[in-house]
Formats: sequence, structure tokens, C-alpha cells
Amino acid sequence: MGCFLLFCAALQVIFSACELGVFDLLLQSQKPVSAAEVAQNLGTSGDGMERLLDVLVGIEILEVEHTEGTAYYSSTDVANLYLAKSSPKSLHDMIIYQSQTIYPLWNTMVDAVREGKNQNEKTFGLSSEDIFSAIYRSDEEMLKFMGLMNSTWVIDGHDVVTAFDLSGFKSVLDLGGCSGGLARELAKVYPASAVTVLDLPNVVQVAKRHFSEGDAAVHFQEGDFFDGDIPAADLYILARIIHDWKEDKCLQLLKKNHSCCPPGGGVLLVESLLFENRRGPIMAQIFSLNMLVQTEGKEHPPSYYMQLLNRAGFQEVQVCRTGKSYDAILAVK
Ligand SMILES: C[S@@+](CC[C@H](N)C(=O)[O-])C[C@H]1O[C@@H](n2cnc3c(N)ncnc32)[C@H](O)[C@@H]1O
Repeated sequence: MGCFLLFCAALQVIFSACELGVFDLLLQSQKPVSAAEVAQNLGTSGDGMERLLDVLVGIEILEVEHTEGTAYYSSTDVANLYLAKSSPKSLHDMIIYQSQTIYPLWNTMVDAVREGKNQNEKTFGLSSEDIFSAIYRSDEEMLKFMGLMNSTWVIDGHDVVTAFDLSGFKSVLDLGGCSGGLARELAKVYPASAVTVLDLPNVVQVAKRHFSEGDAAVHFQEGDFFDGDIPAADLYILARIIHDWKEDKCLQLLKKNHSCCPPGGGVLLVESLLFENRRGPIMAQIFSLNMLVQTEGKEHPPSYYMQLLNRAGFQEVQVCRTGKSYDAILAVK
């Protein structure tokens, strides 16, 4: 029980420190800093900041040294690498999204389990039918969600795009590719392929403004994958798309992919795969509960995706578990 309390408290402490900008300040300062200086720079109370910093030392996220009775705090390598916003491996956006959006939703878990549907209405006062209107309920929320999507591929992107040799696919369209995080990893590994992200118009505009960093390796196109035609491509990527939607919509989308790609072309699904007996992996089980509170979909084992792809017309289907949070399924026409 004590361990459980410690775990919950440690999470809340890390969330708070990220939101306040503690890790960025310590990274930039280049030298150990007192609690009073941190508090002054971040506009917080001195006492509150000192208690927060002391817990961060206790859970080994920060280090402390004492000089003439004053405690001076500095970051560990782990904090600099993963918790400071400016680090290329930063998980800052993921942590902020967990703290400000996922936690409030998870507080309604009892209702979600009782009712078997997402809790966007109860949590945010928005329709549970239109899941992306709830996810993108403000410009700030859109940016946070896109930051969250992006940070996953900093960690798992390379493993996903190298799960299969995709070099034979000369044009790749990442449907619902959001910030372009996975597409950029793909373009790095397969520079000869033309890589395009298709997403909703306002998402593409934000992606170009905040995430594309003048990077010409990935092109962006505005569109709606459910509504009307999608551009032809040798390979369609659907990363964390199928798990958002009910089965009939997923089948409709996969049939559209099948009819638009040439023979030898295909679709790469990227999802967190459950074991066939559903007894794990624990991350996939947790993601599936998250889909319950936030979307109309769920996580599935490989056999579900294989059957869905077969029904859409794809015969040759291969599954690769990457050992990371996200796995890959390649289906060829
Ligand atoms: C769960 S996110 C996955 C993002 C990205 N594939 C990834 O894994 O990082 C779902 C994406 O689908 C996009 N999306 C939702 N409905 C869409 C539609 N009708 N047409 C195109 N994109 C859509 C969202 O904007 C969002 O970027």
C-alpha cells in the first residue's frame, strides 16, 4: 500500500515539476541552484518549491549538494534527457498531456466501465460521438495532443519503421499522420521513398507551423480519410488509427486502402498488440482502457487485425512485435 502511494505521489510530483518548468531551468542554469532561486525564476512560493525539489531528490530525479547550510539542486542525466522540454529525446509533451488530459479522464473510469463508452461528455462537456472534436477542443489541446503523438516516435519510431523492409514502397502515405513524427523516422530510414502525411486540415496547418522544422523530407496534405477519395500510394500507414474507431469504420477505411494501392502495394498498421489470450502486455491493456475513456475503439490481438485485413481484401499479412510499446503489421495486396 505504501508503495502504491509512493508511486502515485511520485507521478504527481514529476507532472508538477514538468508543468512548472523545473527541469528546463536546471538544465539551462548549468550549475546547482538553490530552492529560493528556482522559486524566484519560476514565480512560485519558496517553501512549496523546496518541498517539491526535496521529493525529486528522494526519488532520484534530482541531485543535491549542501554549501554553508544551503541546499543546491541539479538535474540527473535522466531528467536532462527525458524531462527537459528542450532535449531531443524529451517526453515533456507526453507528461503534460498525461497530467492535464488523461488524468481527468481516468478519474471517470468507474462511469466508463459501467457505461462501456468514452467520458468526453462528463469530463469536458463535449459529445462522446465526435471523438476528435473532444480531443481538439481548443488550439492549446490540439498542440498538446500533437506533442504527445510526436514524442512516442522519438522513442519507438525507429523500431516500428524497421520492423519490415519497406524500401520497396516508393510512395508512402501516412493517413492520420498528425505531427509527422513517424513519417520523419520513416523518411530517415528510407530516403528514396516519397513520404506524405494526410490529416485533417487544421491538424496539417499546426503540424507545418510547429512540428515540421523546415524539414523537406515529409510532405503534408489536408484531407479526410473517411470522406471521399484518398491519394494513391504504394504503402498506406495507419498508426494508432484502427484502435480509435468502431469496426465498421475501420473496415471501410481498409477497403479504401486496398482499392487505392497497386498490386504489390500494401498497408502498415502500427498498434500496441495484445497477446492472443489478452493476458498482456500490460501496456497494451492499459492503452485499451485509455481507448475506453477517450475514443470509440480498443486494442486488439494480432488475429483481430489479420481477419480485418483479410476481409478488406489483403491476403498476405505479417506481424512483427517490436518489443517496444508499438508493434507493426504489414499487409500486401
Ligand atoms: C491517435 S492519432 C494518431 C496519430 C499518428 N498516426 C501517430 O500515431 O502518431 C489519430 C490521428 O488521426 C487523425 N484523424 C482523425 N480523423 C481523421 C479523418 N477523418 N481524416 C484524417 N485524419 C484523421 C487525427 O487528427 C490524428 O492525427
